[in-house]
Formats: sequence, C-alpha cells, structure tokens
Amino acid sequence: MSLPRDDGHVHLADYVPPAWRIRHADLAFDLDPDATEVHARLSLAPDPDQPRQPLVLDGEALTLLAIAVDGRPLPADRYAYDGNTLRIEGLAGACELETRVRVHPAGNTRLEGLYQSGRLLLTQCEAEGFRRITFFTDRPDVMPRWRITLRAARERFPVLLANGNPVARRELDDGRHESTWENPHPTPCYLFAIAAGDLDRVTHSVRTAEGREVELNVWAEPADVARCAYALGAVERSLRWDERRFGRGYDLDVFNVVAAQDFTMGAMENKGLNIFNARYILADEATATDADFLAIESVVAHEYLHNWSGNRVTLRDWFQLSLKEGLTVFRDSEFSADLHSRAIKRIEAVRVLRGRQFAEDSGALAHPVRPDRYREISNFYTLTIYEKGAEVIRLLHTLLGEDVFRAGMDRYFADNDGRAATIEDFLAAHAAASGRDLTQFALWYSQAGTPELAITEHFDTATGDYTLTVDQHVPPTPGQPVKQPMLVPLRLALYADDGTAITAAPETDAARNGDLVELVAARHVLRWRGLAGKPLATFNQGFAAPVKIAFSQSPADLARSVRVERDEVYRWDGLQQLATRAILQHDVLAADALEAALQDLLTDPAADPAFVAECLALPDFDTLADAMDPVDPEALLDARDALLDRLSRALAAPLQARYDAMEAAAAQGLDGPAMAARALRNACLGWLTRVDPAAVLAQRQFDRARNMTERGAALRCLLHFDAPGAAAALAAFRGQFAHDPLVTDKWIGWLATRPHASATQAVTELLASEWWKPANPNRVRAVLGSFQRGNPRAFHRADGEGFRLVAGQLPGLDATNPQVAARLLGGFEGWRRLHPPLRAVARATLAGLEGQLHSPDCRDLLARLLVD
Ligand code: PHE
Ligand code: ZN
Repeated sequence: MSLPRDDGHVHLADYVPPAWRIRHADLAFDLDPDATEVHARLSLAPDPDQPRQPLVLDGEALTLLAIAVDGRPLPADRYAYDGNTLRIEGLAGACELETRVRVHPAGNTRLEGLYQSGRLLLTQCEAEGFRRITFFTDRPDVMPRWRITLRAARERFPVLLANGNPVARRELDDGRHESTWENPHPTPCYLFAIAAGDLDRVTHSVRTAEGREVELNVWAEPADVARCAYALGAVERSLRWDERRFGRGYDLDVFNVVAAQDFTMGAMENKGLNIFNARYILADEATATDADFLAIESVVAHEYLHNWSGNRVTLRDWFQLSLKEGLTVFRDSEFSADLHSRAIKRIEAVRVLRGRQFAEDSGALAHPVRPDRYREISNFYTLTIYEKGAEVIRLLHTLLGEDVFRAGMDRYFADNDGRAATIEDFLAAHAAASGRDLTQFALWYSQAGTPELAITEHFDTATGDYTLTVDQHVPPTPGQPVKQPMLVPLRLALYADDGTAITAAPETDAARNGDLVELVAARHVLRWRGLAGKPLATFNQGFAAPVKIAFSQSPADLARSVRVERDEVYRWDGLQQLATRAILQHDVLAADALEAALQDLLTDPAADPAFVAECLALPDFDTLADAMDPVDPEALLDARDALLDRLSRALAAPLQARYDAMEAAAAQGLDGPAMAARALRNACLGWLTRVDPAAVLAQRQFDRARNMTERGAALRCLLHFDAPGAAAALAAFRGQFAHDPLVTDKWIGWLATRPHASATQAVTELLASEWWKPANPNRVRAVLGSFQRGNPRAFHRADGEGFRLVAGQLPGLDATNPQVAARLLGGFEGWRRLHPPLRAVARATLAGLEGQLHSPDCRDLLARLLVD
C-alpha cells in the first residue's frame, strides 16, 4: 500500500510494507450519539527494514483531545494533524501511543465509521472507515490483536457488542455499564466492529467438529427479533458446511450477527460480529419472498465463510480485493448449490454474470479482477471483483477437479493463516498442490474484458472429417488496448443424428482434460475423422467458462441441441439464445422453435418446475443489450414485448393448466418443491396476465395469497399491467405493511419498475412524498436503483427524463452518502453503447453533473465515464 502518485491514483506497483507495525490495540469507547470519545492505546514497533520513518496515521473527521507516548503527553511540536493524517516525528523505536478523540455518530450520514441507525450505534469500516473512529494505520496488512471496552448508558444501550469473545462486564456509576471484548486473532482494522443499543436476539449453541462450544446469536431491534430465526439457521448451516466441504472450523466462543435498517452494502464480515443490512436477516413467510429467503441464506453464508477467506487469511492491500470476495462468492455459491439445486443456482449466477458483469466488462468502467490502480477503492466493490472473481476460482476448480482444488485450498489456508496475502500467494498454493504452471491462468486476474470465442465448423461429406476452428479474442478495455490469449477450458460434446453422444476424442494441439479442451492460443483446430454424418456440436456445458461464444447454427439445430443435451444450464441457455435471436434478429424460425420447446416443457410432467420457471424468464434488457450494437432500448423492448405477447397467447392453455395444477404444492413451506411450485406459478401468472386485461387471475391470487411470494407477485402483476384493481390492491398492501420499511421498499420498487415510460411520474411523486428517505440506502435503491436498473423503458426515455430523474438526485445524495450516490452514477456505465440520439442525451446529462459532485467516489466515476 502506498500514497497516491501525482495522477491521484494509488498504484499496485508502489506497494511498500508498513513502516510501523501495530502489535496490540486497546480501545475504550464512551458511547454517546452526539459525542463519543475513543481512547486508543497502540503498541507500535518499527519495521527493522525501514528504520527511522516518521509515524503516519490515518484519521478523518476526528477531534483530537489528547496524545501521549509511553505515558507522557506529546509536545505540540512533535506532531501535526491536517485532517487526513497524523504525523509524529522522532519516535526512537517500539513504544505505546495513546490518543483520545471525539467523534459524532448522529451526524454521520455516510454510514462509514461509527454511526447511528434507528436507536442503535454501529460501525462500518471496510474499506477505509476505521480512520473515522480513531488514528490508525488504516490498511489491511496491519493486524494487531485487540481489546475493546465499551461504556454507555445502560438504559439506552443495554447490549454492547464488539469483535471477539466477551471477557468482562460491570456496572458503573450514573446508570452506565461497561463490557470488554478480546479478539485474539490478528485482525486488520477494516474488520473492527461494535454495536450498541436495545437489541434482542435469537440464540443457539453448537459444538464444532474441533470440540469448541460456540454460541450463535442473531440480534435485532426487539420488534424484529421474531423474524431472525431463519437467519440463525443459515448461520449454523454455513458453519457445518465449511467444516464438511473445506475442513474449516469456527475459531471464537461467540458468533454475533446484527441487523441494521441503515446499511450501505449487503452485509459485513467483521471478526465475530457480522453487521447486516436488515433485508438480509429479517424474514417470515408473510413479509419475505422465497427469493428473499434464498438471498438471506446466501449472504449469511457469504459473511460467515469470510471468516477463513478474508479474515484468518486477509489481504495485503486493496488491489487483492477479489482474493477474498471472488473466493468467498465461489464458496457461498457452492454452499447454495450443495444445499439446493445446483443447476438452478448456476442458471441464476449466469443470469447475473451475463446481464450485469458482461455489461460492466464492456462498458466505461471495465477493470481487471485485480485492478492495478485506483483513485477510490470503494468504487471497486463491483460485479467484476465479486462475480467474475468467483468465475475465475470456478475455472480453477474446473481445471483441477474437486480433490486437487481442495488440496490447493488447504495449502493456501495453512501457508497464509494469520497473514495478509496476495493473489500470487493463492495461485502459488494451487500451483504447488497441482503441479501445474498457472502463469497463463493468471491473465484472468490482469486482463479486463470478456473473452470471445468464434467457433466455425466444417464437415467433409466425402471423408466424414469434422473440424471445429476456435478463435479467441479478448476485446480492448479502458487502458488495455491489446490482450493476450487466455487459458479457457472449453467443455464440448458431439451428438450423432440419433442423439447418441460421439465419444471419440478429437485430434488437436490443445491439451485435453476429461471432457474439456484447454484453449491457450488465439486459434485451435479440433478434428474428428470418419464420422457417419455431420454431428451436432454443443459447447460450454454448465457455463464452465465465463466467455461469449459465437457459433452459427440454425434455430432447428439449436432447438435439437436443447433436446439432446442433458445439462440443464446448457438447455436453459439454448432457449435464451433462441429468444435472443427472435428478439434481436426478428428470427421467426427461432421464435417458432422457442414456442415449441416451451410447449414441450410446460406439458412435460417430469420437468422440474423450478427449471421450467427459469426457462420462462426470457433474457432481460441487460443481457439483450449486450448482444446489440448500438443499443436502441425502445426497439429492443418493443421486440421483447412482442415475443412475450405472442408466446403468452400461444401457450395460454398449458400455462393455465400448470398454474392450476400446482396450487396445492405452492401453499406454504420453504422446502424445494414448494418454492419451485411458487416460482413456476408466478412465472405463469406473469405471462397469463399479459393476455388478460381484467387481470382476473392476478386479482384472485392477490386476494387469496397465503404468503408474500404469492401476494407480492400478484400485486406486481396488477401494477405492471395497469389492472383495474391495481390501486385498491396497492392501498390494501400498503396499509397492511405500513410499519415495515423492508416491505415498503417492495411496493415502491414495483411502482418504480412499472414498464411504461410514464413510470417517471410515479418516481417523481415518490421523491416528493413522505416515503422518500435519502439517508436510508435501501429506500434510495427502492426508488431510484430499481428504476434505473429495473425499468429500462422509462430510464432510457428518448426525452432524457429518465436520466435526468436519477442524475438530478445525485448532488444531494453525494453530500449525504457518497457510496450510495456512486452506485447510481455507475448505472450510467453503458451510455456509450446507446444509439446516437440517446447517447447525446446521456452525455449531456453526465456533463451537467461536472462540478456538482464532490466526493472522491463520484468524481472518480464521473471522470471515468466521460473520458474519451
Ligand atoms: N465485505 C462485504 C462483503 O462482501 C461487503 C462490504 C464492502 C460491506 C464494503 C461494506 C463495505 O461481504
Ligand atoms: Zn464479501
């Protein structure tokens, strides 16, 4: 880690180890929303390789009250604080630094550092928020052991939580009390956390495989604690799964999770004290949908699993962010795949990757999985770091196989436990365990852009020789005009006319690895000799490689491949391809083939309802836009609607039959078959409501709904299709859940995503209403985020009203919470790919923001969005 260069960027190449280590940190808090005092005692030792460096500590928005070294007050000429760093000269060697500072939690709208949410006091430190709590070396390769003492008024703050294990509690004078915690594991300050307030909990004790008794607690404000049980179960499932699948145990006596209504991100893996956005904790069947439950389970797992991938082995610097995030997304997605349907989990991941990460990779903000420079690290919590980073781990797993991969992971954890590691350390462990040279593989970390494979086939009827030529191209991205070929494991299969698999191996210069060929060059040729007829080729089963494949195939062959292939991810993808061609190329044969395939699926009693539901969800706007150049949103959406109208009419009978047949199975419960039944019924309902102007079915589902999954989908249909009963249903729903901010976010989101240009009106009204709460990140996302990402028609209005609606809020939001504003600004990443008239509108909107946004977050993004 190091200081920014003159260009304002921090560079990976400039890394130098910290000049001073912090061996131990002893912190005492006197908590008060208006003025909290933080007393820090840090045991410091200089790096022997970098003697006599001044001590430079980070500190922002701190009022320094006192400073002493080894118990003696420091004279004013020995230190200087400029609002960003505290510089102390003339320290001879190891010493103890004491500081006392004051901070103002109630005034902290950025939700970084110590802040107030409702009646709670909470912290958020990743990435660089700890410097807003006390003076410290705020970088992840400084890992002290910690002792944390919290003092507060007992009545107002009866529960006081911090990292690690609780070691002491006592009563103080004046109605105050004190609680002391010790975290014995070396831990960087971005994992520091405290939580204080009137919290209640659900709790469960487990004995780990290593024999440790661990108390698992999920905390929330008392009114919400009844909705914490599901999250608590998910914690235990995560703990057990990490023991089984990765051999990793839990390492403290307590594991605490706290739900907060105001939280910028999803959740945070602080050592022993995870803090969550309440939307990823609170759930019961009346207020949460099945999708909410699954998201809760996966985010709980994600944060829990960080305890090894992130906490025990942490990061040398923020360039290594994907070392913890990509790996942990891979781990949580394996957790979900092991517990539920692997194919469905993969399909959902591919949807996000294709729709969102591919767009990021081809847009103005594209960056490698390991960036080599940044101006503001908060802007790198991206789909590329998380989802593509997880795909890279999955590629490694695919190349090595489960057993060798596991050996590599064991080695990585053993070699780096208690250390701040790099992606090189990770690859070195896997190289050692597998005996493979991973040099070319490492390009997945340094080269941005989605690799494209252009595959052409040739069949010689005279000889029966069949050749596939595979050309690889990685497109240019900002700062990276020219790319090298990457290592791409390509899975493929050939089928004969009768549908049997052709098992003969191809002749090729690419290495073969089971059913994969390992592509390493810009071109490879694969040849089979003497086949009886032209085979049917299928590629990338399981979406094993996160690449785009161009292979020209007739709709009939594509439809046939969907019938012969057993891999569900491939079959789903084949239908998505047919839909894409029907929409973007107005390919009638593709639409016919899609209709026939869906007819078969809907009438096949053996088909998994969850899979059928996935197949009914046609490619979304982002996925389609990625395949269109330039993007004409209105034409794209009109064509998509036309296909949906046609299919809904043609398939109305089997859709209705399926919908009716699953009524009982869908009634209740969170088991797989019940969720699958609800998923398919709701998918059918969406299609059926399209061709039913009175929305009779949706109205009936709303009136008889047995849970939020049914009620919410029905209301969404009523609203989105302007049903006669929409307003009354909305009023009833609003009244029923008026005091629940999370459910309120739902109906707001459905209004904001009503697929009509006039939805801008609803958003304008929301912005002027009592519902608009700009300091609450969930609410901002419900009103503006869902509009921007989930209402492509209104957001891309030709008159620019959609862009202006979002952009107009950015200056105010930026002053309140820069990270929330930056997310919305990032939603303009695709503007350059829009067709010329709309591109001009987008450019003018963005240009109009110059000089209006003052945070480093937004200024960095705006510069990257507008650079030519
Ligand atoms: N580290 C968190 C996670 O992915 C995300 C996060 C980043 C939360 C920054 C808050 C701030 O698990
Ligand atoms: Zn994470």
